Amino acid sequence: MRPTDIPPVLVTGATGRIGRLVIGQLLDVGVPVRALVRHAGAAATLPPEAEVFTGDLTAPESLDPALSGASAVFLVWTAPPGTAAPVVGRLAEHVRRVVFLSSPHRTPHPFFQQPNPMAALHAGIERFLAATRLAPTIIRPGMLASNALAWWAPATRAGEAVR
Ligand SMILES: NC(=O)c1ccc[n+]([C@@H]2O[C@H](COP(=O)([O-])OP(=O)(O)OC[C@H]3O[C@@H](n4cnc5c(N)ncnc54)[C@H](OP(=O)(O)O)[C@@H]3O)[C@@H](O)[C@H]2O)c1
Repeated sequence: MRPTDIPPVLVTGATGRIGRLVIGQLLDVGVPVRALVRHAGAAATLPPEAEVFTGDLTAPESLDPALSGASAVFLVWTAPPGTAAPVVGRLAEHVRRVVFLSSPHRTPHPFFQQPNPMAALHAGIERFLAATRLAPTIIRPGMLASNALAWWAPATRAGEAVR
């Protein structure tokens, strides 16, 4: 299949740290990209090759234009949990593949087994995905280096211990 024959992949969280990297890597290998943004002005900050669609994960119907004709979705969920089920339902209606950026909620280390609403949200979205006809790819990365900026940089700069 020539790159131009590949149907587009929709990337949510397109303006975020991870979404931007995913967009760049897809474009690098010739995969057409659709970028979901909440505010049209964000288009100026994305690669010009990406086709920009406005939509919001809290308004499931707003995703339809971006999903129509897409083949796959890279799903970054940073919204409240309320609309996760209907959004997953819409993904299943439109695309064949979903890659979901989850979190390390299955890692047995006690650090990752503390009560954590984000972990519960991600586990719930994984269950929603598993209940569809989709064969999702679940990514459960550990701690991202970007955490250091907000969590540990102040202590490090102040010469304090990071526990
Ligand atoms: N930190 C960790 O160690 C770690 C580990 C594993 C997994 N994760 C997961 O990684 C994800 C965060 O990724 P990131 O660092 O790339 O995030 P980020 O840089 O904070 O970007 C968040 C993205 O989500 C978009 N967004 C926010 N609310 C939205 C909504 N209602 N509808 C549509 N888009 C919305 C933002 O768009 P706007 O530009 O419109 O705001 C932005 O593009 C989270 O799901 C987190 O749980 C993190």
